Amino acid sequence: MVNFKPTLIEQMKKKIINILFIIVLNAGFFPPISAQKKTVTQKVDSVLDLMTLEEKIGQLNQYNDDWTVTGPLILDSSKVSQVQKGGVGSLLNCMGTIRIRSWQKVAMQSRLKIPLIFGQDVIHGYKTTFPIPLAESCSWDLEAIRLSARISATEASSAGINWTFAPMVDIARDPRWGRVMEGAGEDTYLASKIAYARVKGFQGNNLGDTNSVMACAKHFAAYGAAIGGRDYNSVDMSLQQLWEIYLPPFKAAVDANVATFMDSFNDINGVPSTGNNYLQRDVLKGLWNFQGFIVSDWASVGGMIIHGFKKDEYEAALSAITAGCDMDMESRIYKNNLAKLVNDDKLSIDFIDDAVKRILRKKFELGLFEDPFKFCNAEREKIELNNPDYSIAARNIAEKSMVLLKNQSNLLPLSKNTKTIACIGPLVKAVMQNKGFWDVEVPGIDSSYVVSQWDGLKNKVGNKTKLLYAKGCDIEGDYREGFAEAVSIAKQADVVILSIGERRDMSGEARSRSTINIPGVQEDLLKEILATGKNVVVLINAGRPLVFDYTADHAQAIIYTWWLGSEAGNAIADVIFGDVNPSAKLTITFPRSVGQIPIYYNHFNTGHPPQNDSDRFYKSAYTDLSIFPRYEFGYGLSYTTFQYSYLKLSKRKMKTDEQIEVSATITNSGKYDGEEIVQLYLHDVVGSMVRPVKELKDFKKIKLKAGESKTITFLIDKEKLSFFNQQLAWVAEPGEFEVMIGASSKDIRLKDSFELIN
Ligand code: BGC
Repeated sequence: MVNFKPTLIEQMKKKIINILFIIVLNAGFFPPISAQKKTVTQKVDSVLDLMTLEEKIGQLNQYNDDWTVTGPLILDSSKVSQVQKGGVGSLLNCMGTIRIRSWQKVAMQSRLKIPLIFGQDVIHGYKTTFPIPLAESCSWDLEAIRLSARISATEASSAGINWTFAPMVDIARDPRWGRVMEGAGEDTYLASKIAYARVKGFQGNNLGDTNSVMACAKHFAAYGAAIGGRDYNSVDMSLQQLWEIYLPPFKAAVDANVATFMDSFNDINGVPSTGNNYLQRDVLKGLWNFQGFIVSDWASVGGMIIHGFKKDEYEAALSAITAGCDMDMESRIYKNNLAKLVNDDKLSIDFIDDAVKRILRKKFELGLFEDPFKFCNAEREKIELNNPDYSIAARNIAEKSMVLLKNQSNLLPLSKNTKTIACIGPLVKAVMQNKGFWDVEVPGIDSSYVVSQWDGLKNKVGNKTKLLYAKGCDIEGDYREGFAEAVSIAKQADVVILSIGERRDMSGEARSRSTINIPGVQEDLLKEILATGKNVVVLINAGRPLVFDYTADHAQAIIYTWWLGSEAGNAIADVIFGDVNPSAKLTITFPRSVGQIPIYYNHFNTGHPPQNDSDRFYKSAYTDLSIFPRYEFGYGLSYTTFQYSYLKLSKRKMKTDEQIEVSATITNSGKYDGEEIVQLYLHDVVGSMVRPVKELKDFKKIKLKAGESKTITFLIDKEKLSFFNQQLAWVAEPGEFEVMIGASSKDIRLKDSFELIN
């Protein structure tokens, strides 16, 4: 190993400088580092020069605070004394200006007064809860998604937080995996755009602004491809698939200047991500030139021992730090092993210095050296956490996120003159459930700011309509005693709204399910209600695609509400009564049965593709099940209809340095004003590696008044035609490309082709 250790003379020089620094600091006349006219790099270097090895390692150490405990600290706890000694760089799960200020005060008692960073999983809102990220992705509305992250950052930063562990940018094709709810679905193109928007939203214009938080692209990498959809499971995939499907959203986050990355729990092709040199050192910090820092996932440094990748903590620490993982979340392995590794000459101090510099740089960029308490303004916290504009935004985004799956005979929207509505189901009056998984339990805030579906409907109809309620059954279990009451109120009503689904904590981390049916007897309840002959609008609440064949076949109308957050009830009522025309489209395929999983739209053709459901003989099909999904990627209805016409390509042959303009006219042919998400798919007909049957390459969300038409244009360039070939080179190969414009990945309305020439 190369010895990077300083010579004895250099060490003595440093010691003298340090002593002088401390004397000056204690005398109170040392100008703050930030006051000097230095670049951030110079400032970082000058702090680094002052640090002992222990203090450096302290910066790489992150601890959990006591979750939702607020108020003053217990001063003799071991964490407090470690912070006092400069032994901690960051805390997570510490909320509110009071508690964060008191922690930061402790950090200011340390020799070098290096401020702490406070991290939190602000995944879809802080106090105001926005729809779960998967729901938001169904809006395909990048500006709304950016705004949701912006507001979340504003609220969180007002409460002392300066780092969110979001966005999760993992592509997910397996709805058994509970964490599909945290991402943007199955498509790489769309998920990359959303990753970019979310990072921009969280980080704002400038990390130094008081209302910005650092974003964290996670989980690097391919965590969403856990085998069997089982959380934390291994991942095994070709490098082509990794580069083409799973890495682009991470690259988009880098392009958006994301401040931090989090590595992941899984091993990929046999190497745990936390100790993965290729991913962290070569790709992220090398090829992509990422200047921020990487935090481990919770105790994932130690996880490498359980994986059987490293023998003990000493080896695990060496592996993680050399692979590029800069900060150790909660495993304490860096703290307990890095100094020994350096002293044993097993680890070059350069690795530690590089990690420390990356972390200090972010602390400077956040402005924490200038003012460690800049995020601790209790007055601002009070104002931001009670800003009514944020609820308006949450309602707006929720309206854009729910997907209308079925609307037989235009049952929806319901007339506001409907006399009696029976509201049935275990989720009608639920309150906190609407927040979904990964909400933040802000200390001291009660549940009154979440609008239940019942309250939302009541707010909408006032006294004109009679609303009847029966719970009917529980989410899980086989309690049927409530069926009779539900059927009885259904009989008295003009129409039924039935709210069923998962519990909010049935999806999320460590919430993988092997059956993803609507649990319990909820679909049996629907059966009995339908037997009354009444029309039923079913609201399905969930954090993932569920399987609900009976409902899909028999209910008259279905809205997939996901979990819509604080304003769920109001937003749902807006859509049910037509004040808002639904416009969302699915960003993940809905299977008919778990047996179809993994199922996604951009699959290969295979050598034996079936043409339809009865074409199963020696075909890539199931003998006992359709291979076609229940609802495809890109699907979603509106109260109006859209016609697609006049597809025009600006040329038939395109050279690699040229572009093709593709235009089409979209007409709102129905009675309501509405929004349509027009999707552009391409298919590379013959390639040196087989190519997907279609790939989303662009989309436009357009507003059209009833009867109105608009012509939209897409540009196709070489980038949109490229893929990773057998040598892992990013190439666009000459040949025929099909162009498809559709209302979903299946509902292709316009089709043509062109040739790419050399
Ligand atoms: C999750 C991360 C999360 C971290 C901190 C881990 O278990 O995988 O996504 O950011 O905990 O809460």
